[in-house]
Amino acid sequence: MAQHILGIDIGGTGIKGGVVDLADGSLVTDRFRVDTPRPATPQAVAAAVRAISAHHSYEGTMGVAYPGIIRNGIALLAANVDASFLGVDVDALFTEVTGQDVHVMNDGDAAAVGEMQFGAAAGEAGTVLFLGFGTGIASALFREAILVPNMEFGHLEFKGMDAEHYCAASARKREGLSYEEWAGRVNEYLAHVEMLLSPDVIIFGGGVSKKWERFGHFLHTEHAQLRQAELLNNAGIAGAAHWAHRAATAGA
Ligand code: BGC
Repeated sequence: MAQHILGIDIGGTGIKGGVVDLADGSLVTDRFRVDTPRPATPQAVAAAVRAISAHHSYEGTMGVAYPGIIRNGIALLAANVDASFLGVDVDALFTEVTGQDVHVMNDGDAAAVGEMQFGAAAGEAGTVLFLGFGTGIASALFREAILVPNMEFGHLEFKGMDAEHYCAASARKREGLSYEEWAGRVNEYLAHVEMLLSPDVIIFGGGVSKKWERFGHFLHTEHAQLRQAELLNNAGIAGAAHWAHRAATAGA
């Protein structure tokens, strides 16, 4: 029987969700978006998550991607949402507000799981590093397809600042850099993480990855294979849905 699970991705500006076919990661519904509430407090974001599940008339297990550290359901970093998320059991809150079985994970982990399961890293057993360039830099690490959750390589100190401040996609816009200039910064960062982690494959994701033809040719790595993400905007939704189903069927 086809498994269809709702996946929701909480971003800095929008919260998006659709029902995912777990056979191939595709959406079987529209991708419904609501603006991220301001301030993005736990209650306000929970209401947005409920609105998305109601839009899809969805009942069942749901996966949610959250833009910060989630440890055992609890938010331990709230860089891109309201600080009142810190210490909140987001799993429990969203489960209560939606009345459904909700599983929350870091958004970088979700997007990377999406790519590992359905996209650019499918079948990859070596060390895979996922980097998602957006407002921040989402990151995830796998070995033998096993996720080490909550890697925060966007916050590596680089050039005296958080790496994501130096070279996330938002840095390009904020500083008015050309794609070539920005890619030069990304290359410096890639060289640094390659030296630290020796990945076999680096998946380049995040919203900006859909404009790959504008900068992909400027990027280079030393030994790792660099690949454009395949699921683009839907990676987090698909990965969160897959992960939630896995957790629910494992009885988590
Ligand atoms: C957060 C990460 C998150 C990334 C993308 C970073 O600032 O620390 O947890 O994955 O932004 O949202």
